[in-house]
Amino acid sequence: MKNIIVTGGAGFIGSNFVHYVVNNHPEVHVTVLDKLTYAGNRENLAGLPADRVKLVVGDIADADLVDRLVQKTDAVVHYAAESHNDNSLKDPFPFIQTNIIGTYTLIEACRKHNVRYHHVSTDEVYGDLPLREDLPGHGEGEGEKFTAETPYNPSSPYSSSKAGSDLLVKAWVRSFGLQATISNCSNNYGPYQHIEKFIPRQITNILKGIRPKLYGDGKNVRDWIHTNDHSSAVWLILTKGKIGETYLIGADGEEDNKTVMEIILEEMGQSKDAYDHVKDRAGHDLRYAIDSTKLREELGWTPEFTNFRAGMKDTIDWYTEHEDWWSAEKEAVESNYAKNGQ
Ligand SMILES: NC(=O)c1ccc[n+]([C@@H]2O[C@H](COP(=O)([O-])OP(=O)(O)OC[C@H]3O[C@@H](n4cnc5c(N)ncnc54)[C@H](O)[C@@H]3O)[C@@H](O)[C@H]2O)c1
Repeated sequence: MKNIIVTGGAGFIGSNFVHYVVNNHPEVHVTVLDKLTYAGNRENLAGLPADRVKLVVGDIADADLVDRLVQKTDAVVHYAAESHNDNSLKDPFPFIQTNIIGTYTLIEACRKHNVRYHHVSTDEVYGDLPLREDLPGHGEGEGEKFTAETPYNPSSPYSSSKAGSDLLVKAWVRSFGLQATISNCSNNYGPYQHIEKFIPRQITNILKGIRPKLYGDGKNVRDWIHTNDHSSAVWLILTKGKIGETYLIGADGEEDNKTVMEIILEEMGQSKDAYDHVKDRAGHDLRYAIDSTKLREELGWTPEFTNFRAGMKDTIDWYTEHEDWWSAEKEAVESNYAKNGQ
């Protein structure tokens, strides 16, 4: 695989994947296709070698552009998406347009030119699991986890648009022989994440002297994975995964939001209760948890970042050292949340 297209490669997880490929696979050239929405930032690719990484600013739903790029590539790794649940509750349309029509446009081009396609998706397509404390036994044992056999049951316009895109890919594999794999990953953290998202929002609040904000009672559980571990898993699936298969990516990183908040506050030298409770997200999923046995056993993947507190410390350091990357947007992000009482 010498030439790959990474859609959404100027966003959070896509840009981390581009850095990962450049650092680990010197033979590969990357074309980033990114519309540079509010979530995309060309600075996320700064410093990468110009002879190996090219940015094409464009829309994944632009069929002519996509066709021209896809016919010259060996593979497409599809990260581009509208990705923020809260935005999808305010205005679902961009989520339908990019996540569904955009994916359709890409898989049609890959089918026409017989190009390998990897579809990056989320565990949110499976809906949520009960909190362990609500199970018989009150938190004893691991509780149920998502597997590739878990039925789809998305809760929000975001997760339902991702579920729709996954189903298109599955149908294109079966009906047209699309050379595709799918991965559904748990919540990512790490550098380059937009400050509208939970972890960077709290870190940058503290850096700006604003009290951090916790939705509801903070009992909601997310299964955190460092974005570098997501990248290594996607590369492995792209190069060794079985066509037509779905792999779940997770690093056994379950933490409830209140605990994440307390870890951030402690690591930033604050009192662990120095935050405000704000209105919960409508339809807020209770718990996500990934069973990644298939990926580990069939492809031999293991995560490197298994200490959440240490990974969080690195992430805090990154936002502290890169204030120029996020500070211009901070006021607008907080005033948007404030309009919603959050
Ligand atoms: N953030 C997570 O924790 C998480 C977890 C699992 C899976 N995912 C998936 O990973 C992918 C990337 O997520 P992220 O958090 O990095 O998102 P992000 O919002 O940070 O980045 C999305 C990128 O896509 C680009 N984009 C949006 N619409 C586009 C369009 N129409 N054409 C071309 N480019 C467009 C944006 O400019 C941006 O660079 C998404 O598919 C998401 O569903 C995210």
